[in-house]
Amino acid sequence: MTDPTGKATTTDSGAPVESDEHSLTVGAGGPILLQDSYLIEQMAQFNRERIPERQPHAKGSGAFGRFEVTADVSAYTKGALFQPGARTELVARFSTVAGERGSPDTWRDPRGFAVKFYTTEGNYDMVGNNTPVFFVKDPMKFQHFIRSQKRRADNNLRDHDMQWDFWTLSPESAHQVTWLMGDRGIPRTWRHMNGYTSHTYMWINAQGERFWVKYHFKTDQGIEFFTQHEADQMAAADTDYHTRDLFEHIRDGEFPSWTLYVQVMPYEEAAAYRFNPFDLTKVWPHGDYPLTEVGRMTLDRNPTDNHAQIEQAAFQPNNFVPGIGPSPDRMLLGRLFSYADAHRYRIGSNYQQLPVNAPKNEVHTYTKDGAMAYRYTTDPVYAPNSKGGPAADSERHAPPSWHADGDLTRAAYVSHPEDDDWGQAGTMVREVLDDAARDRLVDNVVGHLLNGVSEPVLERAFTYWSNIDKSIGERVRQGVRAKADEKDPKAAEQGNPARSSMQDKA
Ligand code: NDP
Ligand code: HEM
Repeated sequence: MTDPTGKATTTDSGAPVESDEHSLTVGAGGPILLQDSYLIEQMAQFNRERIPERQPHAKGSGAFGRFEVTADVSAYTKGALFQPGARTELVARFSTVAGERGSPDTWRDPRGFAVKFYTTEGNYDMVGNNTPVFFVKDPMKFQHFIRSQKRRADNNLRDHDMQWDFWTLSPESAHQVTWLMGDRGIPRTWRHMNGYTSHTYMWINAQGERFWVKYHFKTDQGIEFFTQHEADQMAAADTDYHTRDLFEHIRDGEFPSWTLYVQVMPYEEAAAYRFNPFDLTKVWPHGDYPLTEVGRMTLDRNPTDNHAQIEQAAFQPNNFVPGIGPSPDRMLLGRLFSYADAHRYRIGSNYQQLPVNAPKNEVHTYTKDGAMAYRYTTDPVYAPNSKGGPAADSERHAPPSWHADGDLTRAAYVSHPEDDDWGQAGTMVREVLDDAARDRLVDNVVGHLLNGVSEPVLERAFTYWSNIDKSIGERVRQGVRAKADEKDPKAAEQGNPARSSMQDKA
């Protein structure tokens, strides 16, 4: 066959190959040969095409875009990307949490909302979710939480009993579970959801003044969601619906955008605030800290190689730049270690040299070598040195800091006056949701509980919902009882476990 394209196929080392279709054999009917190194290259590389999927957040996709500042927040941060007039290139990835790489996009789950800003002062990663809170507040519990959402050891199935077992034994999950079981637990598309840092971060201005901030990326497309029924149908009809939707809209020039707002708390107000401002299971009510506009994120360019640009994208909350730092939120502090560690395992120790992860500014680092090193190291290879190597500028770059003191301990957070596990979840149910949204919440919870949750977890789930809101708790209990009886009238007569445990309680 002749080459019609003028781009003859080559081996990975660039030499022209003789055939895309036929192996080298001894005669047409004879054996294939070890010397067909092109065939061997094809097979060997194929066997190594997959890298480990992300532990959580395995299913997702993303796109490139830009962040443009639209308001002046320089009073709060000196971060170059947030200065008036700044425009910063970025890559964003959206994901589900518990499902594997091939799982349906429309399963009920929080969505990851990760953004890597290629700023002039290094990469800044905002690795958030589409929810303002989280299920747990100590990194010790995160691994257990994720395992409870994934698959059982014996039958390799996901298991609602396991999920509710963990949740009901972890009352701090109530706010996020309420959020998850409501309409926003299944966004219609990634374009139709908000993104939040969830965590509190520190901003530092040019004068060195410190502020606590939470980010809210509000969708400019408007919030839209799927009901459970619609999502179930879509999971069967198009497993990759969200991935497709994002790709096709960007391809067709309909670029999605989000307006970034921040809530800003003066540094000194944290200690006496009515909620612990670093507790990831709580929001700061808007009435206390209103939203301040910052700028707009627009996604306008699809990946051309999803593996190289999205699967190998490595987001890490420890990527900070001057003017932005962490807070005492324990979950955040745990995450500062976890992600880079995951990347070294999943991608390799030099993952930051890949084009999607490499900063656009110059890197002057003393780390060197390792597998697949791409960036050249130059002498001197140590610091301090008197040979003209880079030197840290400790005058200009002080670490973001706060006062910490006390004996070593393993203890819960110090409580602020209104900290409890149920209050903000109850406010959401009673004051944010309307009647129709409350009905859907009850239906979603009842459907979820009826799908394999057994005693004693079931009874604990009823109590959990009653603690969030008495009336919702009662409706959940009644709903499960009615549907369980409907499903199995015989068991109802004889007293099925769901019914009898509820009757005992009554
Ligand atoms: P507000 O009335 O000022 O804010 C209510 C918030 O709820 C809005 O941000 C709205 O987001 C969001 N919301 C609306 N419908 C839903 C839904 N079905 N599921 C989840 N969120 C929804 O009240 P407060 O700030 O005083 O907060 C009251 C409660 O609202 C909180 O206890 C919390 O549960 C919830 N909430 C608060 C947020 C915050 O940062 N303060 C953020 C999100 C939820 P939008 O405007 O984008 O539609
Ligand atoms: C992905 C750990 C809490 C958002 C991951 C990954 C790990 C991890 C190991 C896979 C990383 C990879 O292989 O690329 C943790 C730990 C947490 C925690 C230890 C708590 C202690 C959170 C919270 C949020 C969050 C609170 C949101 C506010 C994400 C997102 C991704 C992710 C968006 C996917 C990033 C991407 O698209 O590549 N997490 N996580 N995580 N996590 Fe967390």
